[in-house]
Amino acid sequence: MTLLLVQIGRNMKKIVCETYEDVCNHAADIYVRQLKEKPETVLGLATGSTPVGLYKELVRRYKSGEIDFSNAQSFNLDEYYPIDPSHSQSYDYFMRKHLFDYINIGKFQIPNGSAEDANAECARYEAELDAAGGIDLMLLGIGVNGHIGFNEPSVSYSLETHHINLTESSIAANSRFFNSDEHQPTTALTMGIGQIFKSKKIILLITGEAKVDIAKKLFDGKIHTDIPACLLLLHPDVTVILDKAANGG
Ligand code: GLP
Repeated sequence: MTLLLVQIGRNMKKIVCETYEDVCNHAADIYVRQLKEKPETVLGLATGSTPVGLYKELVRRYKSGEIDFSNAQSFNLDEYYPIDPSHSQSYDYFMRKHLFDYINIGKFQIPNGSAEDANAECARYEAELDAAGGIDLMLLGIGVNGHIGFNEPSVSYSLETHHINLTESSIAANSRFFNSDEHQPTTALTMGIGQIFKSKKIILLITGEAKVDIAKKLFDGKIHTDIPACLLLLHPDVTVILDKAANGG
């Protein structure tokens, strides 16, 4: 159930839903419409716990014949580096487990966490994104520190896909996914702000109490330059979908 729709600045829409399930349903409706309008959509996809429910709902809708991905293709935002794609914590593994193993997507790409040369892999990925014409519909989550993809808070932001050192905050936040005997990568390959900004439409999902503070900052009417997600206030078409918990009730 949608509780509230607010226009933030000129271009950002904020939609508050009652529950996490409502957020996932609302977002899934956007995918159904998008793929009907443009079957050959280029999707940008995210990982993390936030989009898991959306992916589950997209699988359900695919199985019930409501959505068809056969002409679509996708690019994931980021991947740990170094990591083997078969590692249970790689984003490659995550995407297969939650989405790609169950739908009929034409083609999907994820930065290769096991590439020998990280910079060459970033350049290759950027060229693939450009060759596909950029992203039509970009899905984003947000880190508790405001990162989008793995574009970490900084005084400057790379436009293109790049190799980045993760902040202590992101390493700590993601440590919950790694067993104590597993090596947790401290760097990643991520799409840059430029490629995210070239996306025609962006959906940002913010759910759960842990995101209350960062959501407040995003909507307080200022562009905090140390919060990468705030840059989205300058994009022409962003929809932020939150649950009540992330909106502070
Ligand atoms: C991760 C990813 C982001 C994601 C964010 C939030 O590490 N790199 O793309 O949006 O952190 O994750 P979660 O949804 O688990 O809070």
